[in-house]
Amino acid sequence: TSPLTPLCAVADVPAGGCRRIALPGRPPLAVFRIDSGIHVTDDTCTHGDASLCDGEIEDGLVECPYHQGAFDIATGKPAGAPCTIALRVYPAQVQDGQVLAALP
Ligand code: FES
Repeated sequence: TSPLTPLCAVADVPAGGCRRIALPGRPPLAVFRIDSGIHVTDDTCTHGDASLCDGEIEDGLVECPYHQGAFDIATGKPAGAPCTIALRVYPAQVQDGQVLAALP
């Protein structure tokens, strides 16, 4: 099992929203806090250089701010054109109020 990397406190992620996390040496991550729980994905849209944390979040989907493509936050599957490439998702868990993710 991969070691878990602490990303932020759950309390630092707005309910129903997202927080972008920049770690050295890797593309930024997005921590989503939605009804289905905490999810960690890449923050950069797979269609272009947009930050998904700047997008709209609704019904488990995030809509990209650039061309209104969309992804399922829990699975990373594309959920709206022009996005066709899945968003990478990372196993995440909450321990003692901290969001941890298994990053490759
Ligand atoms: Fe995200 Fe185009 S950059 S839909």
